[in-house]
Amino acid sequence: MEVKRIGVVGAGQMGAGIAHVGALSGFDIVLCDVSSELVDRGLATIARNIDRQVTKGAVTAAAKVEALTRITPTVAAGDLSRCHVVVEAVVEDLAVKTAVFTALDRLLPAEAILASNTSSISITKLGGATSRPDRFIGMHFMNPVPVMQLVEVIRGLATSDETFRTIEDLAKRLGKVPVEVKDFPGFVSNRVLMPMINEAICAVHEGVASAEAVDTVMKLGMNHPMGPLALADLIGLDTCLAILRVLHDGLGDPRYRPCPLLVKMVDAGWLGRKSGRGFYKY
Ligand code: CAA
Repeated sequence: MEVKRIGVVGAGQMGAGIAHVGALSGFDIVLCDVSSELVDRGLATIARNIDRQVTKGAVTAAAKVEALTRITPTVAAGDLSRCHVVVEAVVEDLAVKTAVFTALDRLLPAEAILASNTSSISITKLGGATSRPDRFIGMHFMNPVPVMQLVEVIRGLATSDETFRTIEDLAKRLGKVPVEVKDFPGFVSNRVLMPMINEAICAVHEGVASAEAVDTVMKLGMNHPMGPLALADLIGLDTCLAILRVLHDGLGDPRYRPCPLLVKMVDAGWLGRKSGRGFYKY
C-alpha cells in the first residue's frame, strides 16, 4: 500500500507537529480533534512553527502555503475514513486511547494502518482492542516534532512485517530516522529519559539544588541542549507522571517511583509550558 493520506487524531503539540511534518513532506493530512477551538489552535501552531522555518530560509513561503492547503481540519471522525494511516496523538491515557482506536477500527477500511504516538503504553494492548492487531503499530515522535530526527517504531506482539516496513518507510519519507523497538513499558526513549527527569525532580525535592542549578549542571556539564526540568516542562508534567506510572507498574521496580514533588505539582495543575507554570513560569 502506498501511503498518500495520513490522519492525525489530536491537534495538541505532538499531533500538530506530526501534521506539520506530514504536510511539508507532501502528504495529504486530515487533522481531527474534538472541538473546532482545539483544531484551530493546532493549525495556528503549525502556521507559527512553519514561519520559523521560513524565517530561517529552510522552507519557502510558497511551500508553507502549499503545506497548509494539504491539511484538512475537522471535528468529524468520519473524515478520516479515506486515510491510509491514522496516527493517534491524544492524551497519555489507556482508556481514552482505547476509545479512539475502537472508533477508528470501525471507521477505516481493513487495509488501513492504525499507529499510536503513545510515549509508554503497550502497543500490544492497544492493538488487541482492535480487529487489526497485525496492522497496528507504535510510531513515537519526539517533541518538538519538526526539529527532532527520531521516530521509535514499536512492534506489538501481532504487528506484521508488512506493517512494520510500511511505517518504517513512512518515517523516512517524513525525513525522520526510524529505530525499531520492541513493546516494553516506556520503550527505549522514556525508559532512559524519565528516570533522569525523575532524579532531577528528586534533587530539587530533597533541597540538593534549585531547578535552575540542576538544569545548568546538565546543560553546561553534560552538553544537554536543555536541562531535564525545562525539558519536563516542555513535555508536560502530567505526561511525565503518566509515563513514570506506566514504567513503575509495568516493570515493577521501585526505581521508577514518581517523585512526590512531581505528583504534587500535577495535583496543583502546574503542568509545565502548557499551563503557564511548571518548574519555570511561562
Ligand atoms: N517547530 C519548528 N522549528 C522549531 C520548533 C518547532 N516547534 N522549535 C524549535 N525549532 C527550531 C528553531 O527555529 C531553530 O532552528 P535553527 O536551528 O534552524 O535555527 C532550532 O529549532 C533551535 O531552536 P531555538 O533556537 O529556538 O532554541 P534552542 O536552540 O534552545 O533549541 C530545542 C530548542 C530544539 C527544543 C532544543 O532545546 C532541544 O533539542 N531540546 C531537547 C528536546 C528533547 O529532548 N526532546 C525530546 C523530548 S522527549 C519526547 O518527546 C518523547 C516523549 O515521549 C516524552
